[in-house]
Amino acid sequence: MRNLVYYVAVSLDGFIAGPHGEFDFYPMCDDMSSWIDERYPETVPTHLRENAGVPIDTPNRTWDTVLMGRGAYEPGLAAGAASPYHHLKQYVFSRTLAPVDEPQLEIVDTDPVELVRKLKAQEGLDIWLCGGGNLAGQLVGEIDRLIFKSYPVLAGDGIPALSGNFAPTQFTVTRRREFSNGAQVTWFDRA
Ligand SMILES: NC(=O)c1ccc[n+]([C@@H]2O[C@H](COP(=O)([O-])OP(=O)(O)OC[C@H]3O[C@@H](n4cnc5c(N)ncnc54)[C@H](OP(=O)(O)O)[C@@H]3O)[C@@H](O)[C@H]2O)c1
Repeated sequence: MRNLVYYVAVSLDGFIAGPHGEFDFYPMCDDMSSWIDERYPETVPTHLRENAGVPIDTPNRTWDTVLMGRGAYEPGLAAGAASPYHHLKQYVFSRTLAPVDEPQLEIVDTDPVELVRKLKAQEGLDIWLCGGGNLAGQLVGEIDRLIFKSYPVLAGDGIPALSGNFAPTQFTVTRRREFSNGAQVTWFDRA
């Protein structure tokens, strides 16, 4: 069965972006960027791959499908990327966006839990939950693994990693890796 994996960058106070969608305060470093490009090449947007040194035809390693809420999709769209992860099957949840003419991307307004259960029952690589916090909060019950890139910065305010009403949910740390900027990537499996 495929896993639903929420892979996301978070501040120490649990925010995935500032109040206005800012994300430039997460301190990056070369060793972490190279590791991400190598380990999770799927997460490098298709149109940025060449600049990042990720060959355009790099095979997917972990995920072949990505789920985004409108809030996660719109920054790329505003920058001209209507199909930001063209190398993945993309589902964007929205009740307001018009359909887009992109074969690899579907705008959906179905129940996210139902769609995830349907996808999990299909063959394939795991499913990347890109965010944002609103969509992630609705999918807590279906998340099998969290991969949090935790940066040593307090955002002060912003968009929580998961929002909405859900019960306390236990996870077990299975792996942790630290980089030269002090950021830690931690893998948490549902306990
Ligand atoms: N740090 C990171 O790694 C990372 C990763 C991803 C995103 N982000 C940031 O997260 C922010 C967005 O997060 P967010 O929590 O504000 O929003 P979000 O979860 O991305 O999107 C919320 C929107 O998705 C749609 N939606 C949610 N549930 C739905 C459902 N059940 N059916 C249909 N549509 C549904 C609605 O759009 P409509 O109003 O159109 O109906 C809703 O307004 C952005 O600033 C982004 O940059 C950060």
